[in-house]
Amino acid sequence: MKFYIATDHAGIAYKDFVKDLLTNKGIEVEDLGPYNTDRVDYPDYAEKCAKAVREDAGSFGILICGTGIGMSIAANKVKGIRAALCHDAYTATMARAHNEAQILCFGQRVLGLGTVESVIEAFLTTQPEGGRHSKRVEKIMKIEEN
Ligand code: RB5
Repeated sequence: MKFYIATDHAGIAYKDFVKDLLTNKGIEVEDLGPYNTDRVDYPDYAEKCAKAVREDAGSFGILICGTGIGMSIAANKVKGIRAALCHDAYTATMARAHNEAQILCFGQRVLGLGTVESVIEAFLTTQPEGGRHSKRVEKIMKIEEN
């Protein structure tokens, strides 16, 4: 399992915590930046991460900004990507089980580190349920064709 991670300046303080969480579980993590706390534009990092996930079949992504909203909106503009803004373990579980999200987004200004840990744990341990949910995901992906 491989994860790509990226943030903006409003999400970078959580990046190392998340990277350590994943690497301690034996998961490969590629850090797509930024690498300092200078102000940056979240769409640049969302696009970079979403394209990396799309090009690397079976990989996942984590995007962190202030709220997670901008990152999720931008990442979902990349064809083939389903990025989910999650606020707790329940939404992270559903993002995988029902929506087959490949990218997890959350906000550093919204979630505490304990919640971040439970969100990531839920995202990692939940498999897509398939069936009617997969059909709906297929419908989402068809929207991109028009
Ligand atoms: C940056 O101030 C902030 O707008 C960004 O991190 C994010 O919350 C956007 O959705």
